Amino acid sequence: MVISFINMKGGVGKTTTVVELATILVKEHNKSVLIIDMDPQTNATFSLMGIEEWEKIKDNATIADVLGMNNGFSSRDKEYDINKAIVKNVCKINGLDLIPSHIELTFLDLDLSGQPGREIILENRLKKCLTDYDFILIDCPPNLTLAPQNALVVSDFIVVPVVPEFFPSIGLPLLVNRIEQLKKRLPNCVVEILGVVFTKVKRTTNNHTERMDSVRKTCEELGIETFQTVIPDTVRISEAATLNKPAFIVNPNSDGVTSYKSFANELILLLEEVEKE
Ligand SMILES: Nc1ncnc2c1ncn2[C@@H]1O[C@H](COP(=O)(O)OP(=O)(O)OP(=O)(O)O)[C@@H](O)[C@H]1O
Ligand SMILES: [Mg+2]
Repeated sequence: MVISFINMKGGVGKTTTVVELATILVKEHNKSVLIIDMDPQTNATFSLMGIEEWEKIKDNATIADVLGMNNGFSSRDKEYDINKAIVKNVCKINGLDLIPSHIELTFLDLDLSGQPGREIILENRLKKCLTDYDFILIDCPPNLTLAPQNALVVSDFIVVPVVPEFFPSIGLPLLVNRIEQLKKRLPNCVVEILGVVFTKVKRTTNNHTERMDSVRKTCEELGIETFQTVIPDTVRISEAATLNKPAFIVNPNSDGVTSYKSFANELILLLEEVEKE
């Protein structure tokens, strides 16, 4: 099962959701999980490893290499083995693997412009390790450039983290529309939106409650599920990333982590339902 976490809006908790969900799937559900950090901001990478560790692999074993950037590896080089870029048991979590990112990924679109098949590089590379994992979770940047396009082509589903503020009612239809366009252009791409999850929710703010209602309505109109579980805005979540560890490890009993656990349960149930259909 490959799931991309995407929203064209930045700072909505995509990376946090990927890191916490992955950790919970491994630690509480005994799943094997690969996180792919598709964002040149490298936030998922540094939520799980320190800079010293990253320095050792940055020149030849990141998603940039997988996608054919960096020293000497052409994306047409069918030989690049994706396994070279997988950090096993990252953050000492047995069963959690990571393909780290690199800031150089910013230039992917420039480097590969005009190259045929540039949206299916990840798909080709991933064949080598697809069956090694129960879940592959892809952390996407806040845009739909070439890297996230590569992610969408290999994904079964998309989860859209949303902060209940003004933007989503406009942004969601736009995202849906863009994904439909992409699917028409790339026949291999069969990705579906699994659902919207509300993140960074300020429970005491009436405005957030109202916005959630309005986003739920938009989702209903678009035929998109919204997860019942709501992730609260809490410092216990944000402080973990600065320690290069998931909040699940740093603050296991916090509100935020408990919410992410029930989100994981809900996601597993929803996937089972969808698979039956
Ligand atoms: N539930 C939460 N409560 C408090 N802070 C949070 C929560 N979730 C995420 N944050 C913080 O909000 C910021 C943005 O979160 P995150 O990096 O996960 O968003 P993102 O959507 O991946 O952003 P980008 O689009 O830049 O990749 C981070 O500093 C993160 O620690
Ligand atoms: Mg992010």
